Amino acid sequence: MNIDFEINIYHEDYHNAGSASSEIKKYLTQLGLNPKFIRKIVISSYEAEMNIVIHSLGGKLKLDIIGNHIILTSIDKGPGIRDIKMALTEGFSTASKKVREMGFGAGMGLPNMKKNSDKFEIKSSPKGTIVRLSWVIE
Ligand SMILES: Nc1ncnc2c1ncn2[C@@H]1O[C@H](COP(=O)(O)OP(=O)(O)O)[C@@H](O)[C@H]1O
Ligand SMILES: [Mg+2]
Repeated sequence: MNIDFEINIYHEDYHNAGSASSEIKKYLTQLGLNPKFIRKIVISSYEAEMNIVIHSLGGKLKLDIIGNHIILTSIDKGPGIRDIKMALTEGFSTASKKVREMGFGAGMGLPNMKKNSDKFEIKSSPKGTIVRLSWVIE
């Protein structure tokens, strides 16, 4: 099985924020995967989606199922993360006051993606950030 699923996500598109993760949830549910397992993937995709909306110039989420692995990739167009170690620290956030008032910016997104995935990889430069998460299908 090798399934490609790609959803574009736009900077500051709060109106549609979360819809990519809803699509992913619907899709994984249709595949008949365990709801607790789906939850880990959807928590991660939601955080990745929100990071693109809030912190990037726009990008996309990709979901691939390769053999017994689910791979979620978040790719954006920059401006990148200056200090990845800092960004992975629980509670660290550069979110603006405006964003915090909307209920985002708790600084738990990347730590939770790491916690909820079997494998977590992140690469960043001013040209963009790539977060690759994978799971072995339970
Ligand atoms: N795609 C991204 N592009 C640029 N910066 C990012 C991106 N994702 C995360 N960051 C940076 O890492 C920090 C921590 O991210 P996260 O743990 O999701 O917390 P939060 O989104 O609540 O700020 C963000 O505040 C931001 O500075
Ligand atoms: Mg976040």
